[in-house]
Amino acid sequence: MKILSVVGARPEFIQATIVSRAIRETHQEILVHTGQHYDISLSQSFFKELEIPSPDYNLEVGSNSHAQQTGKIMIRMEKVLQDEQPDIVIVRGDTNSTMASALAASKLQILIAHIEAGERSHNRSMPEEINRLVTDRLADLHFCTSQTAMQYLALEGIKDTVYWVGDVMLDAMFYYRPIAQRRSNILERMNLASKNFCLVTIHRAANTDEPERLKNIVDILNEVSEIIVFPVHPRTSKALAKIQSRFEKHVRLIGPVGYLDMLMLEEHARLIATDSGGVQREAYFLGIPCLTLRDETEWIETVEAGWNKVVGTDPEQALYAWKHFAPPEDHPPLFGEGIASQRIAHILDSMDISSGYTQKEETGVNRDHKLKLTPGGL
Ligand code: UD1
Ligand code: UDP
Repeated sequence: MKILSVVGARPEFIQATIVSRAIRETHQEILVHTGQHYDISLSQSFFKELEIPSPDYNLEVGSNSHAQQTGKIMIRMEKVLQDEQPDIVIVRGDTNSTMASALAASKLQILIAHIEAGERSHNRSMPEEINRLVTDRLADLHFCTSQTAMQYLALEGIKDTVYWVGDVMLDAMFYYRPIAQRRSNILERMNLASKNFCLVTIHRAANTDEPERLKNIVDILNEVSEIIVFPVHPRTSKALAKIQSRFEKHVRLIGPVGYLDMLMLEEHARLIATDSGGVQREAYFLGIPCLTLRDETEWIETVEAGWNKVVGTDPEQALYAWKHFAPPEDHPPLFGEGIASQRIAHILDSMDISSGYTQKEETGVNRDHKLKLTPGGL
């Protein structure tokens, strides 16, 4: 089978490497980088460090407004899809690269598989929520990380194409953590002792593009009486410059770090505070208490399990939680066993779409089937 995999942003590169390894055992993979992330520290460094196969195409779309970025990806992706004629397109997560590629593929009647399907924040002011809703509506195969995601899809009438596979980010952690433990020297470089610092990441539009919220976050970090390591996303860096933020000495701002260094910072942090989806889950995988600096989260299981607390950006609430939050002993395996990519490959192996868009009965996926699932389309 000819599979075209789409990546464009940091977490997609991390996932892609693991899924590529599994699907390339049996299938031909064409890797397309949309160019949504292009800084060395957000893109090339991951390809190098994680030994991700070089992309066959880079659409070089860069940054722009949502419509411009989405439109550019669609236009350039359409050409690649027409040239390559893949049997199926794999998209991941909730970025503009995900949604734009799904739209381009669906107009060409090419099957779409969505990894991390069914995640919902139920907040449509979040661009990622729009991307998730559209992508799941268009996808022919939905690979879910959690039972909650499957339930959300069922509520939207999407049932027969849904597979629970677990979290590909957990596969990535299993694979790269021992490598990180051998290779990363970030703790030494930064003179950090294990459990003697907290780790912070911020990049969501709701925090970076709202000066009041961003100022609150700066106040929270300045008030904490522990060392804070804060690898800053370029979007956040620009937003912090705009509000002329000033940090106390204990807040150590660094540029975005590679995945291996990030895993070591996460593993040795006493606490993680973040608005990142991937980092919330990684905190859970590693058993590190997590505060989510947002008003809601898609990763509700981690909250229900008592390991993640949604604190928003109100300094009083966040600072209280920073001091007092203590997760329980119990730590159930919410996101599988770290074999999601093998499950995905196995499901793809079980399909026969070499000649057009018809799937064999086993998975029941074909264009007719899709039309039955979504009468009237969008
Ligand atoms: C994007 C995704 C988000 C994902 C995140 C992963 C969307 C809508 N958002 O957010 O879901 O969690 O990636 O990190 O798809 N910039 C640079 N260099 C780069 C890339 C971006 O400086 O290489 C700056 C630009 O000023 C740009 C801003 O960051 O305007 C935002 O970039 P963008 O890709 O639109 O969104 P992210 O915040 O990175
Ligand atoms: N990450 C990284 N370096 C950093 C910050 C994050 O390698 O400086 C990794 C992190 O460990 C996780 C992924 O990037 O695997 C999460 O990406 P991000 O927070 O950008 O996006 P989200 O998961 O919110 O979509």
